[in-house]
Amino acid sequence: MKVAIMGYGTIGSGVAEVLRVNQDQLQKKVGEPVTLKYVLDIRDSIPEDADKLINDFSIIENDEEIKLVVETMGGIHPAYEFVKSCLEKGKHVVTSNKALVDAFGSKLIGIAKEHHCNFYFEASVGGGIPVIRTIYHNYAGENLTEITGIMNGTTNFILTNMREKGADFDEVLAEAQRLGYAERDPSSDIDGFDTSRKTAILLSMASGNRCRHEDIYTEGIRNISKLDFEYAKELGMTIKLLGSVQQVEDKYFAYVVPMVVPKSDPLFSVDGVFNGIKIVGNCLGTTMLYGMGAGKLPTASAVVSDIIAAVRHQDEFQGIGWSEKMLEIEPMGSNAFTYLLRVEGTCEEIKDDLKEFFLEDSELKPVILNGRTDEFAFITDVMFESDFLDNLKAFEEKTGRRIIHYIRTEKEEN
Ligand SMILES: NC(=O)c1ccc[n+]([C@@H]2O[C@H](COP(=O)([O-])OP(=O)(O)OC[C@H]3O[C@@H](n4cnc5c(N)ncnc54)[C@H](OP(=O)(O)O)[C@@H]3O)[C@@H](O)[C@H]2O)c1
Repeated sequence: MKVAIMGYGTIGSGVAEVLRVNQDQLQKKVGEPVTLKYVLDIRDSIPEDADKLINDFSIIENDEEIKLVVETMGGIHPAYEFVKSCLEKGKHVVTSNKALVDAFGSKLIGIAKEHHCNFYFEASVGGGIPVIRTIYHNYAGENLTEITGIMNGTTNFILTNMREKGADFDEVLAEAQRLGYAERDPSSDIDGFDTSRKTAILLSMASGNRCRHEDIYTEGIRNISKLDFEYAKELGMTIKLLGSVQQVEDKYFAYVVPMVVPKSDPLFSVDGVFNGIKIVGNCLGTTMLYGMGAGKLPTASAVVSDIIAAVRHQDEFQGIGWSEKMLEIEPMGSNAFTYLLRVEGTCEEIKDDLKEFFLEDSELKPVILNGRTDEFAFITDVMFESDFLDNLKAFEEKTGRRIIHYIRTEKEEN
């Protein structure tokens, strides 16, 4: 199998390295040599594989010997046009590009089907964690009720450091940028859009229908403070940015939000740049995939796993993916959560109001940090988000007390 890589950056060069280092093993596994013929990049020179460097896409497009193309350029254009053209020529395509899969996945899967080739995208979610194939193959017989994950190493690094060092967001973000764990423009990570794209891909996989990340309610971690962590710590919990997909009968729910996570949740212990993806099935129960969600070689390893699949299935369309039919996601207001609520002042004189608006079923258990009198926190009953927001407003109007911050809370698992 002759292969071309489009985009010789972090991941593309990693794929070339894995193909080089594991050449013999790969040949044994798939029964034929997998040979890198071209590397397409906009640069004029690259440190390795210089003899394979080309700048003109049409060379790949028109070379009949190239049966498989790896797209690791990133971005949507011209990645979409290049991938589409390769598939139309019957070349298998493997990509690590979540933006491309989120925006055009169903279209490209349809084109692959029409031209009897495959479009693979394992590395687009969870880097080196094999979540796409696990959902498609291993859990094909499951009714998946929930997929919830920590899918962004940058934000997890920041949140982990805020907890461990008792530091504020800006301070830790600056350190993450200095260490190269966060981009100079970190918006895509810290505002949750990277997680939201991955969540959209998982929801599309789980439901079989197309979902766009723009339709998923998304909040990032900019508003999480060291005091939020102190309250979470006091409760034996922590805070994580979670992308979550849930199915209840024929309804789908999805969101990306920072959440207070209890110790009983396996995601509690996923720290630093690591990713964890929890999958719940009706027969399976709860399982979690854990590992490096990004980085040169872990992500390249996932790309190479797709290359192996493409070689093994070179004459058949495998059908990993979803249809073009748009999925309707339930509105955010119809999700139910408990909330960690930070309220201005002390709680004594507003106990009855707290009970009226947030605690119909349970007792008020206030958390007061170091005898503070300017604020306290507590966890509400389970409430639908729309009711919670209405009650929040009504509570502030009635009592004149400000809600300082709220964070949705994951329920304790038994
Ligand atoms: N890095 C990770 O850990 C990771 C993990 C999972 C998934 N991904 C995804 O993998 C993709 C690649 O990421 P990366 O980190 O490897 O990015 P990168 O280091 O920026 O590499 C992209 C490469 O493609 C080249 N390129 C850009 N436009 C091109 C064009 N029109 N024609 C030919 N070459 C072009 C770039 O050249 P210039 O440098 O000259 O612009 C660069 O060498 C992205 O979609 C990313 O989201 C990355």
